Amino acid sequence: MPTTPIQQPGKLASLWHETASQSPRPRLEEDLRVDVAVVGGGIVGTTTALLAARGGASVALLEARRVGSGASGLNTAKLSSLHGLTYSTLAGSQGEELARLYGEANQEGIERVATLCSELSIDCELQRKPHLVYSQDRGEREAIEKEADLARRLGLPATFTRETDLPFEVAAAVEFADQAEFHPLRYLEGLADSAAEAGVAVHEDSLVDGVDFGDPVRVRTQHGPAVLARHVVLATHIPFLTRGLYFARSHPERSYVVAGRLAEGEGPAAMYLSTESPTHSIRMHETGGERWLLVGGEGHKTGQGDGRSSYERLAAWTRERFGLEEIELRWGSEDHISADGVPFVGPVDPGTSNVWVATGFRKWGLAMGTAAAEVLAEGVAGREHRWTRLFDTARLRPRAAAASFVKENANVGLRFLADRVAKRGSVEDIPPGEGAVVGAGLGQRAVYRDEQGALHHLSARCTHLGCIVSWNGGDGTWDCPCHGGRFAPHGEVLEGPPVHPLEPKPRG
Ligand SMILES: Cc1cc2nc3c(=O)[nH]c(=O)nc-3n(C[C@H](O)[C@H](O)[C@H](O)COP(=O)(O)OP(=O)(O)OC[C@H]3O[C@@H](n4cnc5c(N)ncnc54)[C@H](O)[C@@H]3O)c2cc1C
Ligand code: FES
Repeated sequence: MPTTPIQQPGKLASLWHETASQSPRPRLEEDLRVDVAVVGGGIVGTTTALLAARGGASVALLEARRVGSGASGLNTAKLSSLHGLTYSTLAGSQGEELARLYGEANQEGIERVATLCSELSIDCELQRKPHLVYSQDRGEREAIEKEADLARRLGLPATFTRETDLPFEVAAAVEFADQAEFHPLRYLEGLADSAAEAGVAVHEDSLVDGVDFGDPVRVRTQHGPAVLARHVVLATHIPFLTRGLYFARSHPERSYVVAGRLAEGEGPAAMYLSTESPTHSIRMHETGGERWLLVGGEGHKTGQGDGRSSYERLAAWTRERFGLEEIELRWGSEDHISADGVPFVGPVDPGTSNVWVATGFRKWGLAMGTAAAEVLAEGVAGREHRWTRLFDTARLRPRAAAASFVKENANVGLRFLADRVAKRGSVEDIPPGEGAVVGAGLGQRAVYRDEQGALHHLSARCTHLGCIVSWNGGDGTWDCPCHGGRFAPHGEVLEGPPVHPLEPKPRG
């Protein structure tokens, strides 16, 4: 057995979790009856709960782990309406009016976060900054110029430039003025506290594993108590229900962030994102008197890449480009990418008017998730929002969605079958703190060797629809290659759509 743990760049922890204080909130211990039950304490769920309570509804917020333990606490925390060359893509496939609404929702999402921060006195280090999307490839100049022109025509604060404060030359860039950055976990903690003050029953450590449709809807937690509600909002990142088939209308992508401290005067003042693949998302964040450089990117489909080598490549790129001596922190996360590039926010299916979902934020769910919460809060109050049409959950936009839908679902089918006959390693080769899938066919096992050398055997079949999980050595998790389900080394659910842990297996 190899005895040395594998070295990786930096401690596995987000800057946000390292620099925010969180006190646990109580588990749901008895049945409740409310107007609105919100499931999921990320930016979408927490904002929806607060806005619904402000609108006069009685509200319960149920979070499986801790507020901010999902994607909302594990990102680069830019609040921006500039998401790559999105406006050209959206206008080309879905028309300029839809692209305009998309820009408007994101711009207003930024403003809504800023307003909530000042109204609720949340100290989350929010700062206004420009955000630039750049390319080092001269061949992309025309496309970037077109994006800047179109965005300006759509009413967005866009300019074309070649000037940046990056330590390398760029060929072209589009710049959006007056975007923002913040500390997402401090923001979420402030929102959750304000929601509680507004009367929301906020419960953590309360995983929801079932929803009985009806009027009222019954929301069941795994540990027993239930909530009866007139409306239920599933703000769980991806819905765990089969209804609506959201796991087949989007695909999960994981990406990674590395961070280290720079001295005064070092690092860029603006925020950046590259158009090239692999993308790099760059910004500084000042907290506790320290100046941190954050670089994100090296994404891949969840369960189908090696997190360890993604971190290594990201760390090497960051050291080389910015001269950063030490990578101190690393963290990873995933997001769901809808087939047509626009999130789904609305009723779970056309026949249901009191169970709501929000998913598919394409790694841009902070401002856009805040806009989504506005749509949801209006929806549960029986009102239509002007962005309802943009995020329509029942839409069919084959021109924009068909190619991605076919490709991603063919990929899922392939992984479902191919992973059952894949050649597997042996238990003896697993170093301490690592895992591997061993065995063959339906008997494949996910085996984890803890730091003390003890082996833990689990079924390798994901409890969602049975795909075979794989070990992500970068994050120390079991990741499902089909719809983004993730599990801790001992099998507990970290990310849906699965809601049940990997099944323990006897040794042998
Ligand atoms: C590397 C990376 C960087 C990113 N950077 C940015 C950025 O700079 N700007 C930006 O706008 N976006 C960014 N994003 C995307 C953004 O973080 C997400 O789009 C957004 O946080 C999604 O919010 P959410 O509330 O939908 O999901 P989440 O934050 O994941 O919240 C869902 C919550 O639901 C809980 N939950 C799940 N299932 C259940 C259940 N069954 N019962 C109870 N609770 C449950 C989870 O524990 C979780 O807390 C980034 C994404 C990645 C991967
Ligand atoms: S997440 Fe769907 S099969 Fe694993």
